[in-house]
Amino acid sequence: MGYAFSRDDVAFLGSAAGSAALTELDGFALTPASLLRDLEQIRRTHAEHAAALVETVRLRRRAAAKLAGAGEWLFTDDALQQATPSAVARHRAERLAGRTVHDVTCSIGAELAELSRTCPAVIGSDLDEIRLAMAAHNLGVPPFGAGSGIHTAAVDPGWQQAGMARGAVMLAKADALVPCSTAEVVIADPARRADGRRTHDPAKLQPPLPDLLDAYAGRDLAVKCAPGLDFDKLAWAGEVEIVSLDGAVREACLWSPGLAEPGVTRRASVLSSTGKPWHLTDADPDDIPEREPGEWIVDPDGAVVRAGLVRHYAAKHGLWQLDPRIAYLTGDTVPEGVRGFRILDRMEFREKPLRAELHRRDCGPLEILTRGVDLDPDALRAKLKPKGATPHTLVITRIGRTATVFLCATPSAG
Ligand SMILES: C[S@@+](CC[C@H](N)C(=O)[O-])C[C@H]1O[C@@H](n2cnc3c(N)ncnc32)[C@H](O)[C@@H]1O
Repeated sequence: MGYAFSRDDVAFLGSAAGSAALTELDGFALTPASLLRDLEQIRRTHAEHAAALVETVRLRRRAAAKLAGAGEWLFTDDALQQATPSAVARHRAERLAGRTVHDVTCSIGAELAELSRTCPAVIGSDLDEIRLAMAAHNLGVPPFGAGSGIHTAAVDPGWQQAGMARGAVMLAKADALVPCSTAEVVIADPARRADGRRTHDPAKLQPPLPDLLDAYAGRDLAVKCAPGLDFDKLAWAGEVEIVSLDGAVREACLWSPGLAEPGVTRRASVLSSTGKPWHLTDADPDDIPEREPGEWIVDPDGAVVRAGLVRHYAAKHGLWQLDPRIAYLTGDTVPEGVRGFRILDRMEFREKPLRAELHRRDCGPLEILTRGVDLDPDALRAKLKPKGATPHTLVITRIGRTATVFLCATPSAG
């Protein structure tokens, strides 16, 4: 949950005095061990603002790996958790380059910051005034009050016209379910928590996804969703893009037909903080041979698996499947930059002979990957008791009807 910021807190934190106090607090450790002592000292000089200051400094530290502007930004704990990582927002903004865009659930402005670099005019709106005030700070828009840059769409229907023409970032308090701008593209990122719990039900998102799709029917719309959402229930006519960053699947983005690439209904976009991004779509070839396992096992990126593009990935890299229903791939080479597992041995999965074989091989640190079998890797590791010195990886999966274990060498670095 975190600290509940007030409008006064946000106004203070965004002022010159607030900024100076935040710089001063940088010198405090603010760790669980030091927090009580630190707070006592901070309260002596910043009595009424102490809690807001401490929370902001701690959130900024947490945000550094996620958001490009984190060092200067304001957020609430929930807003930071919900914010799209800058690298993912940038990827979307590049796809929308050159168009006017309205983010109808803009929160503290993580998407807007990236959109404003590639798009001629950008509008953000939300129902939460605290988040809007924080977005105004984060984007350099005048805050609420006299000369405010935050409009109230329901009160001033023509609010966006001047800003759109000027190429500015505009903010408004508005309900996402009541279209209120003429931007060429609408983007939305409904909140995934209902009753304090995460939901995968599209109708329980805030705002509900079916209502959003109705509200913007016929418009160019991009909606960010949880990658676990059941898209088949949505009868979505455009493209579903699954995005991963540094190996972790981050989101699904639904692109309406006008924004989708012709002939593409599924896409995997694989982003990396260090390497080059790449993507794969269902318009790519997926012809692969059926063969016995090769020298290596390859576990494709989660975005490829979630987008249902495992065969397409295999075809692109000269690989084939261990089993047609399992997402592990195999081949005699490993795609560049990917962790490959060199197969040393293969056996039917039975604990006792496996333990003996691991012992014979002086097996030590043991990584266990499973797919298609109902196994808890940690419980299995505890039972196998690998005590040797040589790291190994076990890939346990189903080949036909047989649970099979591939004993593999230490994986190469990815
Ligand atoms: C998941 S957050 C969006 C995060 C944002 N994309 C970012 O990267 O920072 C969802 C936002 O939707 C807002 N929201 C929920 N229902 C809304 C509605 N009916 N109209 C406008 N905003 C709404 C919430 O206040 C919240 O800020």
